[in-house]
Amino acid sequence: MGRYKNTLKILREIALEYGTANQPDLASMARDMGRVVHQESQVLSNGLAPLRGRGFERWLLAERKDPDISVLVMAWPPNYLTPIHDHAGLWGLEVALVGALEVQSYSRDPVSGELKMEGRDWLGQGDGTWFEGVDTHAHRCRNLSKHDTALTLHVYGGDLTQYFAYEQEEITGRWTSLAQRSAVAGRLPA
Ligand SMILES: [Fe+2]
Repeated sequence: MGRYKNTLKILREIALEYGTANQPDLASMARDMGRVVHQESQVLSNGLAPLRGRGFERWLLAERKDPDISVLVMAWPPNYLTPIHDHAGLWGLEVALVGALEVQSYSRDPVSGELKMEGRDWLGQGDGTWFEGVDTHAHRCRNLSKHDTALTLHVYGGDLTQYFAYEQEEITGRWTSLAQRSAVAGRLPA
């Protein structure tokens, strides 16, 4: 258990250290985190095992004010698919800890509200994807496994409790936005 807690501590420290700038070097943060995740893949998989089989949950690993940052671990049930959603204009980074995730990125026209798909990333263990703090970015994520819970690490440039989800009306093709609130299941390590 000591090594598991220490691994979480190292990941938290990387996030807090890089997260001091207004425009953090997210590529370097992802690279440093990926290295730790690769080295400690089994430790993380064992330590985070209690988070599996519980449904979609967000667990808080660290938070700080000024400069604002939050670090979370998320659990994704098999096949789980999020709506297309934004991140309230915060910068963000996500790294796969256990399992694999597909991330579809969208850009949102601030005038018309239309969303356009920009690309797709597949994140295996230790892979990361990130976005700058802009209002026009949105994405949706899917657990690629039909059988296993996926676990990911998320770093945001602030507290992401309120954001918007986007849906396209089938008949008119018009995009609508729905205000969302996200809950935290608890703090890690428990
Ligand atoms: Fe997201």
